[in-house]
Amino acid sequence: MVEDASKVRMRVNGAWHEFEIGRDIAPSETLSRLLRERLGLTGVKVACDQGACGACTVLMDGMAVLSCMQLAVGADGSDIVTVEGLADDDPLIEAFAEQAEPGYGTALQCGYCTPGFVMTAKGLLDENPSPTADEIRQALSGNLCRCGCYQAIARAVQRAAAGAEEVD
Ligand code: FES
Ligand code: FES
Repeated sequence: MVEDASKVRMRVNGAWHEFEIGRDIAPSETLSRLLRERLGLTGVKVACDQGACGACTVLMDGMAVLSCMQLAVGADGSDIVTVEGLADDDPLIEAFAEQAEPGYGTALQCGYCTPGFVMTAKGLLDENPSPTADEIRQALSGNLCRCGCYQAIARAVQRAAAGAEEVD
């Protein structure tokens, strides 16, 4: 089969999409922009737009990547998962949602960083379902939270890894 170099195809949250370069997307368009503006996946947050904060993290072929640093054309043939692609009962979604309630210590105040942390953690837990506290902190170290919820975020990931059971 001859591949059509003028088109980009990618699977996003389980559905295939095709874009024509020059008509649907510019060659310089980032993956974060394509996901947010062409597909309406606004769970992908763009804060710094320069690879420094992790807010735009998505899974690309199972790896957590910064979508603001990826060209959309570079994602041709890839399998992309955004926070919208996670099941409502995904342990990470449940753990973060529970820690938005009083009693746990909040993992989200404004919530702008949350999808990025969730997707970074998803990449970690898919590869290592039982990470140590240090491995969690290390994996999350590229994600920034301006509200300073780091401790509770790490705890939410630890609880998700433990099956959302209480972690002391
Ligand atoms: S928006 Fe992509 S790393 Fe900050
Ligand atoms: S909860 Fe506000 S930036 Fe993290």
